[in-house]
Amino acid sequence: MNDRLTVDVHLDPSELEAALRADVLAGLGGRPYSLPPKWFYDAAGSELFDQITTLDEYYPTEAERAALQQCAELIVGISGADTVMELGSGSSDKTRVLLDAFSAAGQLQRYVPFDVSETALRSAADSLVARYPDLQVHGVVGDFDRHLDRLPTDGLRLLMFLGGTLGNYTPGPRATLLAQMAATLRAGEWLLLGTDLVKDTGRLVTAYDDAAGVTAAFNLNVLRVVNRELGADFDVDSFEHVALWNADAEWIEMRLRAGRDMTVRVPPLDLEVPLVAGEEILTEVSAKFRRDGIAAELATAGFEVVEWWTDPAGDFALSLSRRTD
Ligand code: SAH
Ligand code: AVI
Repeated sequence: MNDRLTVDVHLDPSELEAALRADVLAGLGGRPYSLPPKWFYDAAGSELFDQITTLDEYYPTEAERAALQQCAELIVGISGADTVMELGSGSSDKTRVLLDAFSAAGQLQRYVPFDVSETALRSAADSLVARYPDLQVHGVVGDFDRHLDRLPTDGLRLLMFLGGTLGNYTPGPRATLLAQMAATLRAGEWLLLGTDLVKDTGRLVTAYDDAAGVTAAFNLNVLRVVNRELGADFDVDSFEHVALWNADAEWIEMRLRAGRDMTVRVPPLDLEVPLVAGEEILTEVSAKFRRDGIAAELATAGFEVVEWWTDPAGDFALSLSRRTD
């Protein structure tokens, strides 16, 4: 154990199970069926997500990294931050581009990764304390829908939300989350937000339906989580991964399609979920944004966009916003 590393865990196993029960009841207790994407990320799911980020078809990770490489030094200078907090930090791999720039400027005191996946967070935190000899790493294992008030409040803070994870929220919950992020910050503090942009439909769908089937395995993993944690009896092999573009909502939908008629049992909830062949469970939306739209959403939440960068191809955007007074 390194004395520059602390990890606060706000999700104990019983609390996690209670939250999963509530989500399964809400999502599978009636039609249309859905499950929230946060349950993808057990140890196996986090591993599968990391594999997704290396696929040729999944452009967002490298596009965001390219954008970060262009603007990292500017972010250090403009923000003047000494504390970097990151929601949904996962492996914190791209974050290193920014931490390198903060560290080169001698400006970095503390990094606060925040993630629901304790395994992913601990492994990232271990490698970061080894890489940055002056850095305090204060990990927070929590759910950003419920535990934003557990973030440290001292220092001049830059909150980051990368990877396009905001897009995994539908508009109502997204507005709530952005408002909660604003409420977490003081006037003059900063938000660095990564958002994937609307583009050619073919490229978008392929990014969520790769040839090697890694995204399919990631999607199906949510059924394994519900089976393991709640003793449900999903026959995982009887489901098919579906990715489609919803042109009205401008988001990708991932669904799991039942290959036959079946009834799934979830004993602790006394729940029986009837599915007919072809019926689907919505497991994720991944919204794609336009500059004006996300700037307006940020303004409503209490942020003013100060800078906007994209990768050279214009696929993915980073916005740096200031919490307004
Ligand atoms: N930021 C990384 C990882 C993105 S994957 C990147 O850009 O590559 C999404 C991450 O958010 C995962 O690590 C997942 O465990 C985490 N996550 C998803 N829902 C969450 C929630 N409600 N609260 C906290 N973390 C969550
Ligand atoms: C984490 N999130 C932004 C990813 C996305 O692209 O929506 C999750 C993902 N789903 C399928 N592939 C990747």
